[in-house]
Amino acid sequence: MNLKNDLLLRAARGEKTERTPVWLMRQAGRVLPEYREVRRQANGFKNLVETPELAAEVTIQPVDILGVDAAIIFSDILVIPEAMGLPYQMVESTGPWFENTVQTSSDIDKLKVAGADDLKYVTEAIRITKKELNGRVPLIGFAGAPWTILSYMIEGKGSKTFSKAKKFLYTEPALSHKLLDKITKSTVEYLKAQIKAGADIVQIFDSWAGVLSPTHYSEFAARYIEEICSQIKEVPVTVFAKGAFFARKTFAEGACSVIGLDWNMDPAESRSIIGNDKTLQGNMDPCLLYSSYETIETETKAMLKAFGTERYIANLGHGLYPDIEKEKVKFFIDTVKNFRHS
Ligand code: CP3
Repeated sequence: MNLKNDLLLRAARGEKTERTPVWLMRQAGRVLPEYREVRRQANGFKNLVETPELAAEVTIQPVDILGVDAAIIFSDILVIPEAMGLPYQMVESTGPWFENTVQTSSDIDKLKVAGADDLKYVTEAIRITKKELNGRVPLIGFAGAPWTILSYMIEGKGSKTFSKAKKFLYTEPALSHKLLDKITKSTVEYLKAQIKAGADIVQIFDSWAGVLSPTHYSEFAARYIEEICSQIKEVPVTVFAKGAFFARKTFAEGACSVIGLDWNMDPAESRSIIGNDKTLQGNMDPCLLYSSYETIETETKAMLKAFGTERYIANLGHGLYPDIEKEKVKFFIDTVKNFRHS
């Protein structure tokens, strides 16, 4: 199907765009009262993720309400550990929680390589979303990066330091590779299924990249991301490795099309490290959206000038926080959409 607005895909492929495309990580979420209402109807986050019609509804909300240039399928990176055999729960105001975690070799043996059949509720949500979007904007699919997924499988919940997961890398390198390999295989299957169902581009979230040293990142994280990117040829792939400023050159030399930046990374410096063959995405500090309209406008324009007109997708440097005002979010998006380089 032809898309009416394909700015994001053109920017991802390095083609010219009339203006900068914009979408936001966590655009479907608690900043929207409309989202909170559907989550209430679904009786919680996990039911919402697993009910394709409702997942499709909240996926489309930010397109209607905020006017973003792309939808991102409403799901979670934790559906992969669950499909492999470790079910999760989303505990209100605490976050993810796993009853069973991975500690030993036999724990890893018990996990299966997940296939498309294990995640039918996601592919079904994608099919419904594509139908309901009716070509208005592209749909982004996604998965967690193997290191970030491993960290949840070992820790069983979020962490400030991820020291248990890092300990596993230091003390059990062979088992770590065994687990990362299983996650990688599952992720390739999963992303291919999302693409088959209609995802126009896919993003890999390595949210906890920044807790690893450059050496560990290259041994236990970047190479598995590259393995995934090199196997996805159907659509552009975005890599967002939060905090991994040291890996920008590695991704520049890899098979991805788009590199996501967080707010610690300078636009011009990133462009000079990465070169002109990749599209950059990011990277406003989400906390800017707590400030005045005037400050939001000034800082957003400065970001757009710093990234320039070519190969760029505007976004935040990480997800929206739930207590950011919806009107400020909309103002950020409108500022990007109305901006023209002089
Ligand atoms: O709009 C979108 O970005 C699409 C939906 C999306 C969600 N999670 C929905 C969600 C995406 C892309 C994710 C990815 C995800 N999930 C990541 C990677 C991106 C990142 O933020 O770094 C991670 C690390 C997770 C794991 C996860 N899911 C955590 C740590 C939490 C709890 C934190 C919180 O905000 O409560 C979640 C829950 C979650 N995933 C929510 C949403 C909208 C909030 C749950 C709720 O509605 O109560």
